[in-house]
Amino acid sequence: MVLSVADPGGPAPDAGQFYMLAAAGRWGGGADERPFLPRAFSVARRHGDQRQRVLDFLLEDVGPGTERLAELDAGDDVWLLGPLGRGFSPPRDGRRPILVGGGVGIAPLAILQDALGPSTLTLLGFRDSAHAEGAKLVIDPLVATDDGSVGHHGLVTELLAPELGADAEVCACGPPPMLEAVRALCAEHDVPGQLALEAGMACGFGACFGCVVPTKNGYARLCVDGPVLDAAVLRRVEHPGA
Ligand SMILES: Cc1cc2nc3c(=O)[nH]c(=O)nc-3n(C[C@H](O)[C@H](O)[C@H](O)COP(=O)(O)OP(=O)(O)OC[C@H]3O[C@@H](n4cnc5c(N)ncnc54)[C@H](O)[C@@H]3O)c2cc1C
Ligand code: FES
Repeated sequence: MVLSVADPGGPAPDAGQFYMLAAAGRWGGGADERPFLPRAFSVARRHGDQRQRVLDFLLEDVGPGTERLAELDAGDDVWLLGPLGRGFSPPRDGRRPILVGGGVGIAPLAILQDALGPSTLTLLGFRDSAHAEGAKLVIDPLVATDDGSVGHHGLVTELLAPELGADAEVCACGPPPMLEAVRALCAEHDVPGQLALEAGMACGFGACFGCVVPTKNGYARLCVDGPVLDAAVLRRVEHPGA
């Protein structure tokens, strides 16, 4: 689902930046609820000028925080901190950007496509047709589904491989196995890539070191050094099956 949050007077987020969100009420304070920290969400789209700023977030209900945010009614208050982190950089040397996303990870591709232009090639992968509804967030995407119910029957990286000409630059976000496949393809084709990674985040602003990931240059705190990292600094994108 899409959660729209008014942030009047707030700064304009860049594509790939994120916010820490919590419901102002009933956020873990109830007798039988565990208290929890705000949760990190990529901004999917921004609307309005600074005075009337509205931010869209794409939520996948995976636990108590996303469940609580998903049940908010219009007008309910939301606690919001951001924009945080480093987002996507403009493609270098006039390269042709290719946007690649999977599942709920497609959120930052909407605001990135808004910035780069509606004709930017955007490739999206989903489990099935129900999840592929999220493709409506972007303009004219090429879609792949695991079960073949919409678009290409297979992985989104199968759509990406033939597009990797010498002038390409890939901007990707999605589940870690997909990002690892994108990283490997970029390395194989000697094409630059920018990968929006995720890690559990407690503070969101560099204080807790809960979000560190290994890079070729040591550990990076994803909340301040990322969440978008240059694919070339990663030996691999860590994930349970790696
Ligand atoms: C920079 C960033 C951007 C994000 N953008 C979005 C977004 O646009 N939309 C969205 O729905 N979610 C996004 N997330 C993920 C979201 O913050 C987590 O899923 C959050 O923990 C959900 O809170 P919860 O209380 O519902 O579930 P929790 O109880 O916190 O977690 C439920 C399950 O998800 C696992 N989990 C929690 N966080 C992560 C994570 N970061 N990576 C992998 N597994 C995790 C937990 O281990 C647990 O099994 C983002 C995370 C980061 C770091
Ligand atoms: S989330 Fe605390 S240092 Fe990154």
